Amino acid sequence: MERTVLVTGASSGIGLATAAALVARGFRVFGTSRDPERLKPGQRADGVEYLALDLGDEASVEALAGTLAGVDVLVNNAGESQSAPIEELPGDALRRIFQVNVFGPVRLAQLALPGMRERRYGRVVMVGSMLASFPLAYRSAYGASKAAIKGFSNGARQELTPFGVWLTTVEPGSIATGISERRTQYIREDSPYREDFARMLTALDRNERGGITAERVARTIVAAIEAERPKARYAVGSNAPAVFALKRLLPAGIVERIVHRRHDLER
Ligand SMILES: NC(=O)c1ccc[n+]([C@@H]2O[C@H](COP(=O)([O-])OP(=O)(O)OC[C@H]3O[C@@H](n4cnc5c(N)ncnc54)[C@H](OP(=O)(O)O)[C@@H]3O)[C@@H](O)[C@H]2O)c1
Repeated sequence: MERTVLVTGASSGIGLATAAALVARGFRVFGTSRDPERLKPGQRADGVEYLALDLGDEASVEALAGTLAGVDVLVNNAGESQSAPIEELPGDALRRIFQVNVFGPVRLAQLALPGMRERRYGRVVMVGSMLASFPLAYRSAYGASKAAIKGFSNGARQELTPFGVWLTTVEPGSIATGISERRTQYIREDSPYREDFARMLTALDRNERGGITAERVARTIVAAIEAERPKARYAVGSNAPAVFALKRLLPAGIVERIVHRRHDLER
């Protein structure tokens, strides 16, 4: 039986690679972009039907209700990356990142779940971030949004498993998608954090450029979708298996220091 999947943010990086991988696995794939009309050839995967979605706009999210009622799999991939010292983060930017990374994706899941439950099959994949498991300075709003989406997935998971519907979170580490160029940043000219912030961002960008490919993450997402009993969390990139094992073994303060040193912050 042909399954239907909707992948948000299918015009770039992880979403584009996942949409292509799912077409290759025989799924009917809907992919989203804020502006599908303006996508260039490299921003479209063959065989994917593109729909408009701006997660920052509630009406745009609701407009997908009809499509979502019929999908078997939802991959909540689209997201905003953001960086700022907490003191200087504008309220609008904080509200927007939670709308785009949390409230929008949760609403999409709410629109998809009734049909999945009635058909007794469904998968919802939240694309989170390893920063939700390994917090980092100047990434508090982003990390908190990714922790929140994981919290929804973990919390609601056991509501749906009796119906054959599984919620799962995939946490990527550093992935070379060019997301650094699209990251929103907030720092004041006279900020006391300026030097520290710049050092962290330089390291973050370097780590992203040296990261694994989006195709590797797509393989993990496909494996999570195709698992009979998907796990609550999959992590991929940044040596995830070793890093999560160390987290279980080492005191939290040491793990915190290691994470910050990887981003050139001595603590
Ligand atoms: N790359 C990494 O190192 C990394 C690490 C951990 C987690 N992640 C997470 O993985 C996901 C994908 O990241 P990526 O690196 O592949 O990013 P990317 O290359 O920048 O792609 C982001 C996608 O999201 C869409 N998008 C952006 N803002 C949107 C909005 N307001 N409404 C709807 N769609 C929007 C973009 O589509 P349009 O511009 O066409 O609308 C694009 O297709 C994100 O949730 C990100 O937080 C990435």
